Amino acid sequence: MPELKLLIPREQLEATLERLSGEINRDYRGKNPLLIGILKGSFIFLADLIRRLEVPVEIDFVQLASYGMGTETSGRVRVKRGLSIPVRGRDVLVVEDIVDTGITVDFLLRYLKKRRPASLKLCALLDKPERRRVPVQIDYLGLTVPNKFLVGYGLDWGEKYRQLPEVWAVE
Ligand code: PRP
Repeated sequence: MPELKLLIPREQLEATLERLSGEINRDYRGKNPLLIGILKGSFIFLADLIRRLEVPVEIDFVQLASYGMGTETSGRVRVKRGLSIPVRGRDVLVVEDIVDTGITVDFLLRYLKKRRPASLKLCALLDKPERRRVPVQIDYLGLTVPNKFLVGYGLDWGEKYRQLPEVWAVE
């Protein structure tokens, strides 16, 4: 069992959700955005975020896999589970739990861009800039986090701990 230390308490997550949903409500007023969550990590963030949105949204999911060994990614990504709603002409907002090396979202943004959305933006709850390997523009950013292994609020450690209501650092 790893030792966990509380990093982001529930109240801070809620304040962050409030701020991000406010920005999205403002920017997408009068639009019908297609939100795309990256499985599995984003499912809790996405679920909490959309319940604060006042614009009519549609939801889709994509699951990506990297060919890495263990915790280090090789930098090559493939689609494990694809989209079910066409993105052409849509205002697409990718929703991600954490941007680490940036390889996952960089791949997805390129993949989506080829399918000609009307607009394409990224919302990420957490950003770990120290680990970045490819530059990523985060249009809606929640919180910047230190270079620690994080669990909870959708993030896992060997598929466990996703259900924790807060974000914890593995010591
Ligand atoms: C995690 C996280 C992001 C990605 C970020 O997913 O949820 O999708 O890694 O890392 P990157 O910026 O270095 O690409 P993971 O591959 O662990 O799958 P999961 O979401 O199913 O836990």
